[in-house]
Amino acid sequence: MSADTNHPPLDVLSIILAAGKGSRMRSKKTKLLHALRGHTLIDLDLLSHAGFVSRKPLVVVGVDAKEVMAAVGERGTFAFQSAPLGTGHAVMAARDACSGPVPAQVVVTYGDMPLLTQQTLTMLSTEQKRTGATVVMLTMIDPNPRGFGRIVRQPDGTVAAIVEEVACTPEQLKLRELNPGVYCFDGAWLWRALDNLQPNPQKGEYFITDLIELANRDGRSVHAIVASENEELIGINNRVDLADADRIFRHRINRRHMMAGVTIVDPDTTYIDPDVLIGTDTTILPNCHLTGATMIGEDCVIGPNSALSNAVVGDRCVVRQSVIEDSRLDDDIRMGPFSRIRAGTHVHDHAYLGNFAEMKNTSFGSRSQAGHFSYAGDATIGADVNYSAGVITANFDGQAKHRTEIEDHAFVGSDTVLRAPVRVGAHARTGAGSVVTRDVPPGATVVGVPARPIKK
Ligand code: UD1
Ligand code: MG
Repeated sequence: MSADTNHPPLDVLSIILAAGKGSRMRSKKTKLLHALRGHTLIDLDLLSHAGFVSRKPLVVVGVDAKEVMAAVGERGTFAFQSAPLGTGHAVMAARDACSGPVPAQVVVTYGDMPLLTQQTLTMLSTEQKRTGATVVMLTMIDPNPRGFGRIVRQPDGTVAAIVEEVACTPEQLKLRELNPGVYCFDGAWLWRALDNLQPNPQKGEYFITDLIELANRDGRSVHAIVASENEELIGINNRVDLADADRIFRHRINRRHMMAGVTIVDPDTTYIDPDVLIGTDTTILPNCHLTGATMIGEDCVIGPNSALSNAVVGDRCVVRQSVIEDSRLDDDIRMGPFSRIRAGTHVHDHAYLGNFAEMKNTSFGSRSQAGHFSYAGDATIGADVNYSAGVITANFDGQAKHRTEIEDHAFVGSDTVLRAPVRVGAHARTGAGSVVTRDVPPGATVVGVPARPIKK
């Protein structure tokens, strides 16, 4: 044992076990890099541990250590478990990686519990401090045991043991008090007790859960708190659990927005990432996907069937059945159905984008309109421009992208092709079907292929 008992105890050490195989995911990717609402499981673990203790959580890695360590980066410290010999063995690896003082408290969670909240960890640690119990653990009463360890109580009501499903008698299998796997230990006791763990006879692994029986045998107190909310305690072992966790997470996020004044017509079909911001009195219609760092203002109507990813949307916008990626909409914009705004686009206030308007890396000016199937790529389009049906920028010559500039009040006629680089001056007009290959002076009208000026 590397623990040094001559030093005064450090406060709290929090440990995340992340060295398992995760084989039940049946994936090429390690379990904790699977994601919920845009965040990996290990990201979500680190969030619940962050701020709970002053020092970084200790992440136990083993199988796929490289991937997990890269994902954790600076946010944790690491212990290496040489072989996946069980959750108890992982805690031993954590202990052996700690030089210096024995921590007064050791909080251990499994890396596959992404919905665990910081409040729950704080509650456990506070309870351990208050009672001085050797172990404070959570339990949950749930009709769906999902393979969780069963809690066996003594006649006096205290916890006697956690029995893993593989080791349960038929009677024990019927128990519905389960082990979610969130523990706070007296550090000094834990560091010593780990030496007494024996491999489980069925699986040959060292189980952290056997520490409960060990504590009882030592005449120590095990304090169990029955969780009031089971949903945060889901452990992800397979893709069914992943989908269940996503649904729970989604509802948690949706509820937060609704309580803050956002109308979500159908929370079951509304998919919002945790960092998305939405202003009050905005309505989200069914089947919307709001992801990444999307921010939506007040009094908007979004959806149905819209996907906004890293989109910044102002106030009073209407986005119907459309897609917006890495772009910005100012206030009072009407859009869709079926428009697609691609990366780097800025749509200015009061603009109107109808059906099948596609824009990429474009600035579209105030009050300008693109009502029907059109494309603007690498363009700067001024205010009050009419971008008629079927207008496109031919911005790519096979080698490079070129810019198109359209000044204020221009009227770009139906089916105009703007061969970039090209500029259409203020108040200029292009005739239907014209192919504009040269700059159009302000106020001029051009027609034909290639487009030539005509007298008004
Ligand atoms: C574990 C508990 C079970 C509990 C359930 C709750 C044990 C023995 N069982 O079972 O009582 O009801 O969680 O979700 O603890 N890990 C390592 N090294 C290993 C093995 C696992 O670091 O050698 C890590 C895994 O990466 C994972 C976590 O520990 O993040 C839990 O392992 P897992 O195999 O999912 O345990 P469960 O079977 O779910
Ligand atoms: Mg698990």
